[in-house]
Amino acid sequence: MNPDPSASVQRDSDGRLRHLITLEGMSRDEIVALLDLAQFYVREPGDLPARDQSLAGQTVANLFFEPSTRTRVSFELAAQRLGAEVVNLDMHSSSRVKGETVLDTIYTLQAMRADILVMRDAEPGLPAYVARFVAPHVSILNAGEAHLSHPTQGLLDALTVRQTKGDFTKLRVLIAGDISHSRVARSAWQVFKSLGVAELRIAAPADLMPNKNEFAGARRFENIDDAIRGADVVMALRIQRERIRGAQMPDETSYHRTFGINAQRLKLAAPGAIVMHPGPMNRDVEISSEVADGPQSVIQRQVANGVAVRMAVLATIARNVQARRHFQ
Ligand code: CP
Repeated sequence: MNPDPSASVQRDSDGRLRHLITLEGMSRDEIVALLDLAQFYVREPGDLPARDQSLAGQTVANLFFEPSTRTRVSFELAAQRLGAEVVNLDMHSSSRVKGETVLDTIYTLQAMRADILVMRDAEPGLPAYVARFVAPHVSILNAGEAHLSHPTQGLLDALTVRQTKGDFTKLRVLIAGDISHSRVARSAWQVFKSLGVAELRIAAPADLMPNKNEFAGARRFENIDDAIRGADVVMALRIQRERIRGAQMPDETSYHRTFGINAQRLKLAAPGAIVMHPGPMNRDVEISSEVADGPQSVIQRQVANGVAVRMAVLATIARNVQARRHFQ
């Protein structure tokens, strides 16, 4: 396999977004357009969900070869609410467990006329690799690629910050926890960089800090109290146990004491700071329950925004593919 992770893979020959593989290389205007469309699909709690027929006649296939609750369900709801047919394949029920290659799985779905394939996989480079081989009517959406990329999570995080804190250029954003193994952190860094946040901070114990050649421009902290001081946005990340081997694994109790976001630490943040977490949470490890369920938490809003963002991405990709067909 020869992965091609470049941002250009996701564009058609006219530069339109045909797949969504990464937020790297996306302009501020493109990101704002997606956030604006997502906002159009947001509804107040208790209101009926937004629906339209942007994907009428289309089939969306969810291929999740790593566990997921939020991303898988929100892609399914988003596709249904846009009028698509949806099929779900998971790691236990697909023929990949019998040795079928991922490309054969993709070709099988595309032969059944699936149009949009939503993929989560532990293998770096897989979404870009697959995107190079699919038929012209097929789009690939990255729903979580190893430790590298989770673009729709980055977008929903940005939408949540925009709704609650407004102007990105005035904000100090802290991402704290297992940065090294986190695709959420990498996509958040990409989106917040494009949107021009005033300061991006990453905080992790030394063992969980990424290499120096990553997260360009971010301020690095190994002390959480220093990192959180004056932050407007505090995003806590879980320890990615599935990507850590033996000796690197921190003890949960001492991790919570030395690095967890608790009510005492949150007092060091800027007044009115918001607390985010992409989920799934490990309560009382990277974040205390008191903070996760407290008044500054926007975690449930992130979940709700996930559906709106995925509707926006699906509708945009479908429109772009349609436009290309129209002019051919
Ligand atoms: N944030 C996120 O990707 O959650 P899931 O693993 O539940 O999809």
